[in-house]
Amino acid sequence: MTTERFHVDGDTAVITGASSGIGREIATRFAADGVDVVICSREQENVDAVAETIAESDRPGEALAVECDVTDREAVEALIEATVDEFGGLDVLVNNAGASFMANFEDISPNGWQTIVDVNLTGTYHCTHAAAAHLKEGGGTVVNLASVAGRQGAPYMSHYAASKAGVVALTSSLAFEWASEGVRVNCIAPGFVATEGVEAQMGISADDVDREEVDRRMGTSEEIADIAQFLASPASSYLVGQTLEPAGKPAILEDPTV
Ligand SMILES: NC(=O)c1ccc[n+]([C@@H]2O[C@H](COP(=O)([O-])OP(=O)(O)OC[C@H]3O[C@@H](n4cnc5c(N)ncnc54)[C@H](OP(=O)(O)O)[C@@H]3O)[C@@H](O)[C@H]2O)c1
Repeated sequence: MTTERFHVDGDTAVITGASSGIGREIATRFAADGVDVVICSREQENVDAVAETIAESDRPGEALAVECDVTDREAVEALIEATVDEFGGLDVLVNNAGASFMANFEDISPNGWQTIVDVNLTGTYHCTHAAAAHLKEGGGTVVNLASVAGRQGAPYMSHYAASKAGVVALTSSLAFEWASEGVRVNCIAPGFVATEGVEAQMGISADDVDREEVDRRMGTSEEIADIAQFLASPASSYLVGQTLEPAGKPAILEDPTV
């Protein structure tokens, strides 16, 4: 009875940016929980590989792989249409697709700035906006991926931090509007998580993470998927418009007497 409330609430979920890292882990987890998942990224072959892994496993949920760049509104509308055509509705939307690069503020060109804002913030807007009617039909859930950078800032990632702050604000604003229609909108703002994206930028891989540690270690995609599952489940039914920060021990908890 109690653990039942931790299962994903719904039959169908769209997870963007699910070809690697956190998105792939959330898709795999939801499929294991019996949810049919629609997974997208910019490269069909990248998401095909994830869908094949899910299909070959004994996970009860099905996977549909769709090529979709979340900055392309027409492609996003086609993604939502494909979801509804295949599975008859849409209950959970996970806005996970994200991009970043490190640079001094002065070195961020207008194009570089626009690209990051387009993927992280406008992409979240496109997907949520295009899915709105379907989410409202069945009282769905939206889980957005922001970052601690969006709450406290991050050096050399001002464009990324600003875009993620936008995602946090979109989450709390939309939650006000949609709660009365039975749609919960929440957000996850992780600290550093060992994913392919981080490995490419910083050379730290999931193998370097010691999960026994609590203090100042990187998180894993699995730990973020735990929270996504919670936010998409009835166990979080009283949580609306919130941003959870899985980031290990926060710096503010340093012992001030030492
Ligand atoms: N890892 C961290 O430390 C960390 C910390 C805080 C927040 N986050 C956030 O968590 C999310 C996932 O991060 P991650 O580290 O798992 O990322 P990742 O390993 O770099 O994967 C990013 C995913 O997004 C897809 N993607 C990128 N641009 C896209 C676009 N325009 N349209 C559709 N898909 C796109 C990529 O697929 P293709 O390349 O195949 O398109 C890939 O599947 C992001 O929003 C990120 O900002 C991550």
